[in-house]
Amino acid sequence: MRNTIGIDAGGTLTKVAYLDDENEFQFKVFPSKDLTLVKEWIEANPNIEEIGITGGRTEQLLAKLKTKKSIDYVVEFDATIKGVKYLLKKEGHEIQKSIITNVGTGTSIHYMENDKHVRVGGTGIGGGTLTGLSTIITGLSDFNEITKIAKQGKREFIDLFVKDIFEGMNPPIEGHLTASNFGKVNILNHNDYPVPDLLATIQALVGEVITTLSIQYADTKNSETIIYIGSTLTNNDHLKEVIANYTILKKHKPIFLKDCGFSGAIGALLNKVEQRNIAQL
Ligand SMILES: Nc1ncnc2c1ncn2[C@@H]1O[C@H](COP(=O)(O)OP(=O)(O)OP(=O)(O)O)[C@@H](O)[C@H]1O
Ligand SMILES: [Mg+2]
Repeated sequence: MRNTIGIDAGGTLTKVAYLDDENEFQFKVFPSKDLTLVKEWIEANPNIEEIGITGGRTEQLLAKLKTKKSIDYVVEFDATIKGVKYLLKKEGHEIQKSIITNVGTGTSIHYMENDKHVRVGGTGIGGGTLTGLSTIITGLSDFNEITKIAKQGKREFIDLFVKDIFEGMNPPIEGHLTASNFGKVNILNHNDYPVPDLLATIQALVGEVITTLSIQYADTKNSETIIYIGSTLTNNDHLKEVIANYTILKKHKPIFLKDCGFSGAIGALLNKVEQRNIAQL
C-alpha cells in the first residue's frame, strides 16, 4: 500500500481509498457511527503518511484521529466531482456535461460541464430513507439483506399504476408508470404483505423520487446523461433497474459507475496528491 489515502467521512459510511503497489485502487468501508474503527485501521497501517479527507463527518473523525500526519481537507462536492471524472475516464466514458446524482444518506444533485460544476439541488430521500423505512416496516436493517430480498419482490399489490386507475380506457400517459407509490394499499385493503414486496416497493419509492428530480434538472440544463453514484447503489441491481428504466423512459441516458460509492474518497486522495505536488513546486 502507498503512503497516501483518501477518506470520505459521510453521514452513514466512511469510505477509504488508497492505491496498492500495482497502482490499483483498493477500498474500505466503515460505519460512520463508529469512527474509532477508522482510527484503529489507520493506526494499524503506520506507512500512511498523508491523508486527503472530505465529507460531513470530517471534523468528527479528525477529532478522534489527533494525528500529526499531513492532512488536506477538500469540500465534499469538489471531491465527488473529481472522483467521478476519474472514474468516468477509467471506465471509458467521454462526457462533457452531465447531471450527477449522489444517492448517499440523502441525495445531492450536481451539474457538471467541462471544468465547472454546481450543486443544483437535492432531496432528503436517499439511502437513509431506504434503510430507515425498511427497518420500520419490515424489521430488517441490514443493507445487503434489504437489497437482496427486494430483488425478489413485486410491487403490483402495493403500488398504484396509471393503468390501474384507467382500467378499460386508454391512459393519457404510459400505463405502467406509478400513479401513487403505496397507493393501492387502501384500495385493495390487503393487510398482509410479503416482506420482499414491501422492500421492492420502498426501493421504487426512493428510486422514482430521485429519478424524477434528476430528470427535471437534466431537462433544465439540457443534459442528456445522468450519472448516478453513492453507496445506496452498491450491489443494488434492483434500485439501479428502477432508476435506469425511468431515466430511459424519460429519454435520458443513465450512467452507473462500478465504484459508485467511492468517488468522494478517490477525489480526496487525488486532491491530496495535487496539493502535495503544488507544495513541492
Ligand atoms: N454496508 C452498508 N451499511 C449501511 N448502509 C449501506 C451499506 N452499503 C450501502 N449502504 C447504503 O448506502 C447509503 C449511504 O451511502 P453513502 O455512503 O454514499 O452516503 P454517505 O456519504 O454516508 O452520506 P452523505 O453523503 O449523505 O453524508 C446508506 O444509507 C445505505 O442505504
Ligand atoms: Mg457521501
